[in-house]
Amino acid sequence: METLSHTPVLYQEALDLLRVRPGEVYVDATLGGAGHTRGILERGGIVIGLDQDPEAVRRALTLGLPGLRVFQSNFRHLKRVLEEAGVERVAGILADLGVSSFHLEDPRRGFSYQKEGPLDMRMGEEGPTASEVVNTLSLEELYRILRDLGEEKQAYRIAKAIVEARRQKPIRTTLELAEIVRKAVGFRKAGHPARKTFQALRIYVNDELGALKDFLEQAGEVLAPGGRLVVISFHSLEDRLVKRFLRESGLKILTKKPLVPSPEEVARNPRARSAKLRAGEKEALCG
Ligand SMILES: C[S@@+](CC[C@H](N)C(=O)[O-])C[C@H]1O[C@@H](n2cnc3c(N)ncnc32)[C@H](O)[C@@H]1O
Repeated sequence: METLSHTPVLYQEALDLLRVRPGEVYVDATLGGAGHTRGILERGGIVIGLDQDPEAVRRALTLGLPGLRVFQSNFRHLKRVLEEAGVERVAGILADLGVSSFHLEDPRRGFSYQKEGPLDMRMGEEGPTASEVVNTLSLEELYRILRDLGEEKQAYRIAKAIVEARRQKPIRTTLELAEIVRKAVGFRKAGHPARKTFQALRIYVNDELGALKDFLEQAGEVLAPGGRLVVISFHSLEDRLVKRFLRESGLKILTKKPLVPSPEEVARNPRARSAKLRAGEKEALCG
């Protein structure tokens, strides 16, 4: 079964915090392989599932899960999707951010620095490809992207190597870029030398932080009183946004410290390694 290759991260924790009640409507803003969604459905919830990736949407539709309505959309358009669905308020919203294992494992999508493929990295159908980005942005812009979105210490050196390489010929594939980075920074003890460069470009190409900001604001608005928001993030830039939103939005914070996966979960599913879960609850109306 296709869905088995995506193991949902912090599955039990996310479902417990959502506190699913039978017959209530929940949003799964990042449907992916529908792992978390299945859990909500099994507990009797109704799910409005969003994914910006047409392939994820197609896969979800073939599952034919009763109680699930699927929408192909960026979650930054949450309110628009709910309007289309004819739903005003929801009992809970889950977002399990970032790419799925389907993305990472499919070389055609261009997310992996270890597999040859077109340098694409788009999760949806909008925006520039990573190839367009590395071939057209200025040295200064590339430097800032790598520094700010990759937290890459050698951002300048890598940006310069990219600009020099593209003068010879445009950079078109994942391994071409990975090799340019490797040559620029040499061997690294902690992980692949191109890891942070790829992360930075992915975040930029998909405007991940902009989309998350738009989403959080709308999520706060559409939650019913007593409704819960659960967000699983995978890098500090996202986590910072979620943490700040929860603090400033007036939601009651349910996770003083973010929940992280147990060592057993990380051993079973290495992708869970950097996950952090935060949750909040909208105040119930009183008086
Ligand atoms: C980590 S996976 C989710 C996995 C899912 N929770 C499961 O259990 O199978 C993230 C999914 O969210 C989608 N996604 C990421 N950012 C998105 C956004 N801004 N809007 C809509 N979908 C997004 C990706 O295409 C991917 O399929």
